[in-house]
Amino acid sequence: MCGIIGYIGNKKAEPILINGLLRLEYRGYDSAGISTIEKNGLKTIKNKGRVSELEKVSGINDLTGTIGIGHTRWATHGKPSSTNSHPHMDNSKKFAVVHNGIIENYADLKDFLKSQNYTFLSETDTEVIPNLIHYYYQTSKNTGSKKLLEAVSNTIKMLKGSYALEILCSDFPDNMIVVRKDSPLVIGKGLNENYISSDIPAILSFTKDFYLLNDNELAFISRDSIEFYDSNLNKIEKIPQNITWNAGAAEKNGYPDFMLKEINEQPMAIRETIGSRITSNSKSIIPDLDGLNKSYLSSINKISIVACGTAMHAGLAGKTLFETLCEIPVEVEAASEFRYRNPLINEKTLCIFISQSGETADTIAALKLAKSKGSKTLAISNVIGSSISREADFTIYTHAGPEIAVASTKAYTSQIVLLAIIAINFAEKLNLNKEKLEELKKDILLLPSQLEEILGNIQNIKNFAQKIYKEKDIFFIGRGIDYTVALEGSLKLKEISYIHSEAYPSGELKHGPIALIENDVTVISILTNRLLVEKSISNIQEVVTRGAKTFIVTNQELNHKFDEVIQIPKTNTLISPVLSIVPLQLLSYYISKEKGLDVDKPRNLAKSVTVE
Ligand code: AGP
Ligand code: GLU
Repeated sequence: MCGIIGYIGNKKAEPILINGLLRLEYRGYDSAGISTIEKNGLKTIKNKGRVSELEKVSGINDLTGTIGIGHTRWATHGKPSSTNSHPHMDNSKKFAVVHNGIIENYADLKDFLKSQNYTFLSETDTEVIPNLIHYYYQTSKNTGSKKLLEAVSNTIKMLKGSYALEILCSDFPDNMIVVRKDSPLVIGKGLNENYISSDIPAILSFTKDFYLLNDNELAFISRDSIEFYDSNLNKIEKIPQNITWNAGAAEKNGYPDFMLKEINEQPMAIRETIGSRITSNSKSIIPDLDGLNKSYLSSINKISIVACGTAMHAGLAGKTLFETLCEIPVEVEAASEFRYRNPLINEKTLCIFISQSGETADTIAALKLAKSKGSKTLAISNVIGSSISREADFTIYTHAGPEIAVASTKAYTSQIVLLAIIAINFAEKLNLNKEKLEELKKDILLLPSQLEEILGNIQNIKNFAQKIYKEKDIFFIGRGIDYTVALEGSLKLKEISYIHSEAYPSGELKHGPIALIENDVTVISILTNRLLVEKSISNIQEVVTRGAKTFIVTNQELNHKFDEVIQIPKTNTLISPVLSIVPLQLLSYYISKEKGLDVDKPRNLAKSVTVE
């Protein structure tokens, strides 16, 4: 999950690395460090804590090298400490390495290296890497860059697990080697300079041309050239991809936090995601889905939606969409569960994988499993060229722009809109539910302006946050699709406010959880389905009777008095989560602010979970 950054050019590397690390900090913030190539060899400075702590280390501004690597850590092996911080070096201090991922067989490799008289300073899995490179470098018969490439290639052949690596060698003061497997890394091409990063937004202000590496491909990078090699060190050609995101999209643009900015960007994210894919009164146009044609869709008997966290909650909304419009049964499962059982899927199952980052290790592993069982795979991602898009048979992108805050907001609503659009496309191909589709299309097209309406009226949400921010437990309830929103609202609250919360289907309360309701407990209800209003109101009354405070998000007219009712515009129930989640995102946000927490970087979490 950590962030890695690299620079090779003619400018002083240190400020560029620090700037990159600050932008990548949402990926991990246990420690930070950089290595640069100085006149007298490699110099490494690292420190426990955030990048701001690294900036305080004396001597950091004296680094003048124009080539360097940097790391911000999300610790997996070894506690957060200065010694465990990256970059790590080999015993001879010839190699400096930063690593994102996990080396699963590090203990065996450590034993082997110890038998060769190598010693270790840290508790990390990473430290075996520079030492193994050194081991193979010493024993190589090659010369020049071949010697270094061979040492790195032999090393990665020994590694089990996931890695994105940047490697500096003091014998090659004008070069850097990078390689990746199952962890993200992009190379940004500049003029007489190149940038390396875990993700695109961190270096978007320098370049829009990016090279993407497949698993175990190596890049030997100079200031003005990049050589690419496959895992057997055969030279390969790569064409850079031009990314259309603008650099401003990765800035806060006057907002105090990325999360608030991203909540407010939802109207735009939805508009962009709809694009020209649907218009009212004509059929959807989605070339990305042409390969999933009528005869294929008629042949499948199940859709499996697999994802993690918020993306899985979007998948739950997708289930209702596909079942209602396409009349195909849908299962939704957490990727971390799906991949470790023997799911009953085959060539008659379409598997849909949802991942904002496109780098989530569990989701990618689940996708590989589905392929091995003969299912067709469709990925939904927000990041062009992400790992998942390279693995899947078909990929379709949300166009939400970079999402930086750890708590996902605009990606969730964009994913639901895209799932609705896909379901419409499939139903059209299957000639099903024509009238419903037309109505739904009109409602989808209204969503951006309805979101603007909600976002323009948030004072009551702020007030309620002030009332409840000290609470220890909060409950979320809803029925049907509103229950899926309750799950997402509860996750948002836990993530950024550290308040314990639970989400239940409203009707389930009386089967146990109602025992927890006592005077002054807050119960948050989502109520958007006309057909279920009366039943849901009864459930809310049950908790009010037991002294609960109520916060209700609804698009229905309620004839009862509750503590706070947030009225949202009416829309088709199938897409109602796109609107009903927004007050809950804002409520979590303002509770977190009241508590004085770091909204964008909640403790123990990182943006893309590239470890399993
Ligand atoms: C969302 O707020 C979370 N931080 C998390 O659940 C996230 O949605 C999950 O890790 C999946 O990420 P992905 O969409 O990038 O695969
Ligand atoms: N496994 C390595 C460590 O714990 C890298 C973790 C990361 O990706 O940040 O140091």
